[in-house]
Amino acid sequence: MAVAVAPPEAEASPAASARGGNAASTAHSGDDTPSSSGISYRQYRDESDLAAVMDLIDNDLSEPYSIFTYRYFLASWPQLCFLAHDNSSGQPCGVVVCKMDVHRGKQLRGYLAMLVVDKRFRGKGMGSALARMAIKAMIEGGAEEVALEAEVTNTGALALYRALGFIRDKRLHRYYLSGNDAFRLKLQLPLTPLAFERRKKEKDAILGFPEEMEPADSAVAEGAAHEAEIA
Ligand SMILES: CC(C)(COP(=O)(O)OP(=O)(O)OC[C@H]1O[C@@H](n2cnc3c(N)ncnc32)[C@H](O)[C@@H]1OP(=O)(O)O)[C@@H](O)C(=O)NCCC(=O)NCCS
Repeated sequence: MAVAVAPPEAEASPAASARGGNAASTAHSGDDTPSSSGISYRQYRDESDLAAVMDLIDNDLSEPYSIFTYRYFLASWPQLCFLAHDNSSGQPCGVVVCKMDVHRGKQLRGYLAMLVVDKRFRGKGMGSALARMAIKAMIEGGAEEVALEAEVTNTGALALYRALGFIRDKRLHRYYLSGNDAFRLKLQLPLTPLAFERRKKEKDAILGFPEEMEPADSAVAEGAAHEAEIA
């Protein structure tokens, strides 16, 4: 089936769109968002979407995932999963599944785990629209960077991520069951007020200083108290 799907509005990169408008902003939590392109995008709702997510991904990704893996992502980060539906048939035709957590006790990092567009709908901007929606939701959640892995032979996906601003971080040898290598890709995000606040709190907790007191002031105060004791 050939379906005419106009590309979503062009966007330089999700990092840039964090500062301004974004095609992703047309997707609202749980609500269908009809678009003139004939495709609707919406957030994952609940287990009633699970079968559609699994079907899309199992058909296309080389790695087999168990239902536990799907539930791990979808139950914990439903706000980071988006589905695309073909308006004319009502059928799901694309999905992105992600997570977000603190990486090595430091940065809040988003992770784009799975991105698939039904073969019949490819090359029309859906893959990048779904990825941008997920990245925008990560930015709203305070993420400072996004990471993912893509097979070194997956030129289409690598081109898509490069266009979104991802850069190659490292090569992971024999990462996939197929024996193929992966590239770890990363996208640095602008520091939003939420991310800045989180980073400040963490720093204060590690240093043990009250938020309003600068470390230098505190050290001076401690030093003065110590000197008074000696005197
Ligand atoms: C990768 C995938 C999600 C892309 O979906 P899509 O809707 O076709 O992608 P888009 O139309 O948004 O493409 C955006 C850009 O990515 C690049 N791109 C996408 N597919 C490409 C291909 N096959 N060859 C070269 N470049 C490609 C292009 O730069 C494109 O921009 P352009 O159309 O302006 O040239 C889709 O091919 C897919 O589902 N593949 C199988 C699953 C998979 O590999 N997922 C990625 C796992 S990391």
